[in-house]
Amino acid sequence: MTDYNAPNNVNELEIVNTYDLRDAAEEVIPHGGYHYITGGAGDEFTLERNDSAFRQKGIVPRVAQNVEFPDTSTKIFEHEIKVPFIMAPIAAHGLAHETKEAGTARGIREFGGTIMSISAYSGATFEEIQEGLQDTPRWFQIYMSKDDEFNKNILDEAKSDGATAIILTADSTVSGNRDRDDKNKFVYPFGMPIVSRYLTGDGKNMSLNNIYAQSKQKISLDDIRFIKEYTGLPVFLKGVQSPDDALAGIGAGADGIWVSNHGGRQLDGAPGSFEVLESIAKAVNKRVPIVFDSGIRRGEHMFKALASGADIVAIGRPALWGLGLGGWKGVQSVFEYFEKDLKRVMQLAGTQTIEDVKNAKLIDLK
Ligand code: GLV
Repeated sequence: MTDYNAPNNVNELEIVNTYDLRDAAEEVIPHGGYHYITGGAGDEFTLERNDSAFRQKGIVPRVAQNVEFPDTSTKIFEHEIKVPFIMAPIAAHGLAHETKEAGTARGIREFGGTIMSISAYSGATFEEIQEGLQDTPRWFQIYMSKDDEFNKNILDEAKSDGATAIILTADSTVSGNRDRDDKNKFVYPFGMPIVSRYLTGDGKNMSLNNIYAQSKQKISLDDIRFIKEYTGLPVFLKGVQSPDDALAGIGAGADGIWVSNHGGRQLDGAPGSFEVLESIAKAVNKRVPIVFDSGIRRGEHMFKALASGADIVAIGRPALWGLGLGGWKGVQSVFEYFEKDLKRVMQLAGTQTIEDVKNAKLIDLK
C-alpha cells in the first residue's frame, strides 16, 4: 500500500442511520483502510455481537411523563458536556481522510460541548490536532512502550498538550487476528509521530501486529499507579470486560473504568461489550465513572448503555466513516445525528434528563 489516496472532500452529511453511513464510506475510503477501520478479529463474532447484544434489552416506552426538549447534558470529572457521548480513541484517522485526526478534531470542536480522545497511534502530531481542537477538552490514550522513559516522554507531551485524563489501553498487548487486514496485507501508509520514538520504524509501512509487538505486553496494575503518580491526572483502565478486572483496577487507583472490547478487534469469541456492562457497573457501584464503547450505532444503544450503568459512551467507527465521507463537517454531522437520535429516544421513553435515563429500567428480552 504505497499510494494511499484518502478522501479530501469536506461536506455536511445527511445521515439516516450509521449502517448506511458505513456502506457509503466503503465507496470512498480506500479498500485497505476501509476494511482496517470497519473489520474486527477472526470470525467477527464479537464485532457482530457488539451490535446484536443490544437486542437483549428493551426500552419501555413511557407516556404522560411531561417531557419536552430532553436535556442531554451531563458531567464527567470537571467537564460539563452537552451530550453523554465523546469521541473514542481510534488509531490512524488519516486512513479515512487526508486531514487525519485534525479533521476529526475540528468536527468535534464545531459540534462543541464534548471531549476528544487522542490515540497514541495518531497519524497527526499533537500540534496538528491542536489546530482542529483549539480549546476543546481532550483525553489521551496511551499504548505503552516497554521502556518507561519513552512513556514518561509521551505522557509529558500529552500533558502539555492539555490532556485532562489518561486512558490506559490494556486490551491490546498483542493484535487480534484481523483476517481482513491479513488478506489485504494491510500496513499503515503513514507514520505515527507520537509513538515513533519507540518503534524501529516510524509506523509507516508497518503492520499493526508489528507495532503492538513493539509496545508493552506485560501491562499490569502497576502501570495504572505509574501513570497516575507520574502525571497526576485521572487514569482510565480501558478494555475492561469483567467485574474482577474493574475491581482490581479501582484497587490500583484507576479513576475510571472503560468498558470496551476494542470494537470486537481483539479477542474474538468475547461477548458483546453491552452484555458485560451491567455486571461491571454493579461491581463498580458508582465509585468511579464508567465509559462504555463497542457497538454504539443508534440513540437506542446509547440509552441502553446509560440505563445499564455507563456514565458516558464513546463513538468510534461512525465518526471515521463520517470523516471519510465529509471531512470535519462529516464528523460534526455524525455527532449531530447521535444528539438528535438520543433526544428522540429520550422523549419516547419519557426521560427528561440523563439522570432519568440512568434510572430507567430496561426489560430483559433474552
Ligand atoms: C488499533 O487500536 C486498532 O484496533 O486497530
